[in-house]
Amino acid sequence: MYLRNRLYLIIASFIVLAGCQNITPPNNQNTEIRMQINKASYGHLENNEVHLYTLSNKQGMSIKITNYGGIMTSIFVPDKKGHFDDVVLGYNSLDGYLKNTPYFGAIVGRYANRIAKGEFILDGEEYNLAINNGPNHLHGGIKAFDKVIWDAETFQNDQEVGLKLHYFSKDGEEGYPGNLDVTVQYILNNKNELKIVYNATTDKATPVNLTHHSYFNLSGSMDLDVLDHTLWIDADRYTVVDETQIPTGELRDVEGPMDFRTPKNIGTFIANVDGGYDHNYVLNNNGKLALVATLTDSSSRRIMEVYTAEPGVQFYSGNFLDGSITGKNGLIYRKHAGLCLEAQHFPDSPNQPAFPNTILQPGTTYKQQTVYKFGLMK
Ligand code: GLA
Repeated sequence: MYLRNRLYLIIASFIVLAGCQNITPPNNQNTEIRMQINKASYGHLENNEVHLYTLSNKQGMSIKITNYGGIMTSIFVPDKKGHFDDVVLGYNSLDGYLKNTPYFGAIVGRYANRIAKGEFILDGEEYNLAINNGPNHLHGGIKAFDKVIWDAETFQNDQEVGLKLHYFSKDGEEGYPGNLDVTVQYILNNKNELKIVYNATTDKATPVNLTHHSYFNLSGSMDLDVLDHTLWIDADRYTVVDETQIPTGELRDVEGPMDFRTPKNIGTFIANVDGGYDHNYVLNNNGKLALVATLTDSSSRRIMEVYTAEPGVQFYSGNFLDGSITGKNGLIYRKHAGLCLEAQHFPDSPNQPAFPNTILQPGTTYKQQTVYKFGLMK
């Protein structure tokens, strides 16, 4: 009897221990879960050492950011069973990001999205930017904020851990006017909220539109696509674009496949959207920090909420992923393997006087804050 009870006890302990392994966060094994930030080498670029920072909170959630491009290389969040998975696309090492990347996890600037023919006129002067997307300028140019090394500084208090990145973009860089001083802070708190706070000042009027370009796949299985994720976007209209993805100026009511005011699966109508989703939604947030989008994955029961005060969000359904990229853990990223929700100003605003203004003036500060909050479906 005694022996049988001992045996039951051993089996029960084994089951509990095995279960516990599932909720052990990946980088905190065998240690107490606490808020922390670690710095490690991530390789070298042009004689500079690049670093990888790991920020983790008391819930065991962790994110990894490199100061090359301010790229967030991973986000580990729990699923319904408490199992932590990485929910963003990317590469295993710096090398992947250096070779070729469709902006995986990067900070995008000076001007996220497109500027028609790379041209704009400001204070009577014409500026010409690099043409790197068909006939247009995309995401700040050839060597833009996603491809430079940022200075980095860590900080921590009772409630949050953070990484403050700083970059000085010289007058004329990628064709833009003015010296632009930029800081971007990635802040993780114990409520599983990841805040991205952007600030910039200039000494000459210049367009500024900064965003973050993570490709999310909440299933954590990047060999599955995101077409069965459910999306809600608080937007009544979107900016209509021409065949080169430049806005025509029309803000059209969302209807049918474009309407995410009630949550719907991304795949439901994607076949009716020419090329897939790659559209700027005009948010109903009236310029105030508010919940603007919710993404859910019913298999893992993970939810991600997006909060911003920006006037738009570019919903991009990973249409240009075509199986030519092998990402983390040797997985091939096929079409729609991840999706982006990029909080930003409308595309081509410097050439569209009716759109919200994107020109930063000297003596004023550009401010942007976006929050990605992770949780579980009820
Ligand atoms: C943005 C654009 C897309 C594409 C991706 C990067 O989301 O809107 O058209 O350029 O970036 O591949």
